[in-house]
Amino acid sequence: MPLQFARDKESFDRDWFFHKGDIPIKYAVKAGMTGGITDCGKREEGDWLEIAYVDKDTGDVPIPQDWQRVQIPHDWVVEGSAVNDPNLGSRPGSHGYLPTGVGVYRKMFAMPSDDLGKKITVHFDGVMGVSTVWLNGHLLGTHESGYTEVHYDISDKIRYGDEGLNAIVVKVDANRYEGWWYEGGGIYRHTWLQKTDCLHVAHSGTYVTTPRVSEESADVVVRTIIHNEYEQDQTCELRSTIVNNHGVGVAKFTETITVPWLDQMEIEHKLSIAAPQLWSPECPNLYRLNTEVIVNGQQVDSYETMFGVRTIAFTRDGFILNGRPTLIKGTCNHQDFAGVGVALPDAVIAYKLQLLKEMGCNAYRSAHHPPTPELLDMCDRLGLLVVDENRLLDSSPNGIADLQNLIRRDRNHPSIIIWCMENEEILEGKTTGARILRSLANVTRKLDPTRPTMAAMNHGWNGEGYSDQVDIVGYNYGQRNQQDINDHAAYPSRIMLGSESASSTTTRGIYELDAERGYCPAYEGIYMPSWSCTVEQAWNDVVNNPFLTGVFLWTGFDYRGEPTPYSWPCVNSHFGIMDTCGFPKDVYYYLKSVWTPEPLIHIMPHWNWGDRIGELIDVWVYTNGEQVELALNGRSLGMKPMVQAGHLTWQVPYEPGELSAIARQDGQIIAVKRVQTTGTPAVLHMEPDRRIIQADGTDVCLVKVSIRDERGNVVPTADQEVMFAVEGPGAILGVGNGNPSSHEPDKANRRRAFNGYCLLLIQSSLLAGEIVVTATSTGLAAAKLAILAGPAA
Ligand code: GAL
Repeated sequence: MPLQFARDKESFDRDWFFHKGDIPIKYAVKAGMTGGITDCGKREEGDWLEIAYVDKDTGDVPIPQDWQRVQIPHDWVVEGSAVNDPNLGSRPGSHGYLPTGVGVYRKMFAMPSDDLGKKITVHFDGVMGVSTVWLNGHLLGTHESGYTEVHYDISDKIRYGDEGLNAIVVKVDANRYEGWWYEGGGIYRHTWLQKTDCLHVAHSGTYVTTPRVSEESADVVVRTIIHNEYEQDQTCELRSTIVNNHGVGVAKFTETITVPWLDQMEIEHKLSIAAPQLWSPECPNLYRLNTEVIVNGQQVDSYETMFGVRTIAFTRDGFILNGRPTLIKGTCNHQDFAGVGVALPDAVIAYKLQLLKEMGCNAYRSAHHPPTPELLDMCDRLGLLVVDENRLLDSSPNGIADLQNLIRRDRNHPSIIIWCMENEEILEGKTTGARILRSLANVTRKLDPTRPTMAAMNHGWNGEGYSDQVDIVGYNYGQRNQQDINDHAAYPSRIMLGSESASSTTTRGIYELDAERGYCPAYEGIYMPSWSCTVEQAWNDVVNNPFLTGVFLWTGFDYRGEPTPYSWPCVNSHFGIMDTCGFPKDVYYYLKSVWTPEPLIHIMPHWNWGDRIGELIDVWVYTNGEQVELALNGRSLGMKPMVQAGHLTWQVPYEPGELSAIARQDGQIIAVKRVQTTGTPAVLHMEPDRRIIQADGTDVCLVKVSIRDERGNVVPTADQEVMFAVEGPGAILGVGNGNPSSHEPDKANRRRAFNGYCLLLIQSSLLAGEIVVTATSTGLAAAKLAILAGPAA
């Protein structure tokens, strides 16, 4: 007769302590010891014991010196200072010149005695670096990849009730790089403590597919793995219920099963949804599968799986979603963001995705590794198609385990349309590479035959059978030498995708090449790495060659590291359509004009050219109108027909005042843009993304801070330092400004503006109330902002 416990998965993110730098940690389970480094009676000398020490008499848990209280997600690398020191590793520039190193985390926690008998697991969604975990001195295990999750069963090693407090210790060695971009270091994704009955749905234990979909109905096949960790066989009812997005149950199936002891069993349920609401980027309809394990009428486990009903097909002529040809308008993205490194609270992930969606993106490539699970939940809800990517071309046991881990974790997300096996691996086009790729593709097809496999390649497309191992051949920068066009003709059965393109380098608000400070002008095409092209060319490439199925531009956002074409003192990439803060560069408006039907016109550059009166200034205009008329101080500079999916140019002799552009469609004005010469910096202005956030200790308000003149125009060259003060139940999480050469700390209460803007991230606490933020800067009128932290939902 099983104990009857409901599943309980709670956040394990609070109350961690962090020590930067290595400390000796031993595990104490050895002959003659009862086990556990918290055993006061067996106290030994040295740091390793101190970190988990509980005072026997008082029960206190002293906080060791030099340890800081942190909340997960946490990235200690972003707290460091950029330094140009080759001893930091072989590729410090590609990682943003920030020192990595080793760090140790510990957390003390109590476990109620009535939890004895449950299965208790601790889950790490992502720890950047090689992580080793101990509980009460017992080694739980080591995990290598920073991009895949790991969990440990701790039921046996926990101290329950009066047995004492528990100490979990995580050592993270972030010295070894997995990629060539900023990767951070630490427990940078969520952690969870899960308690279940010993009869429960296995980890990632449901798999929902919809093998037949029509307007009238959808067949839903649910495969559930039930894990029996009791010492006897267990008989239970397994119930699958599908609930629509109004909370109404639309299908149900119950079956009685007997699961052998210490074993797992996979059960298949076939259900049907009448008149299914399909999932798409425009209408991201979701369904919820509720799985219940019931013993003697009592629910002993319940498990939720979100899924969607949609059909996908990749053909020689493009991507078909729910029977409709759909052009993929995507960006590739790394994880990091201003102020937080790779440790993004959910609100910051949501902010980034929302910005991409507003730009007209319908797709996201998680380059070059699996994303955090919350990002996928959000893509499901927002309607973004996802390429979910495996980190390495590696068929070692570790490599296969990482891939399996990724597919099992993610295969219910309707947003995911492609499994990408690798990116730009050196063995592309080689026999050994082909064999490894085949193994990875087979593992993937076995676990999920419903989505195609892909390799994102930059060479070797036609070498030694490599491309034949995957369903879709990815072309990174395939426009070089017309490789994509030629291969389309030469390989009549090959399905192709523009898996990566552009890598066009621009710096927000910069209009002249400035190699000394490490800035690239916003006029695309002035500096082009040999493999790259402009965003405009990348988009036109797809429009003109629909067999490419779509494009994933490199990248949606700038990221730390890869400061191409520069190196120190430049520390950030310039490839983004937006900067590291999510502030749009000019090229953002190009994409928005071709990716959304929203009438739009944009003028670049700014119109603050000081004493350069009479000098010819290059003016570019992006619009989705048919014709544009440009005027300076009310004088027309002529009307031009719009270049389809391109931009218009004028050379305008500079005089201060107002440059304006009018876009017309069928003779009607559809959009107007005015750019004015501003006055000198006078006031600070703050614009929060939301005025109400949750008082849950994790929510974040992102505040755009701008420096304006007396008339309220943002001064496009302003770079004053802005100081922030916060009162009430909130704290500064970080700051940023998008300047690719800034070495100012991201964890600070001040930041210089860069070309008029900087960003402030405010995080809530567990207390509700008003958070008042003040921004000050010498010589400028201060700004004040009130944000309400409301009770957590
Ligand atoms: C690609 C690579 C990316 C990034 C980019 C820069 O080849 O896949 O990770 O390095 O180049 O242009």
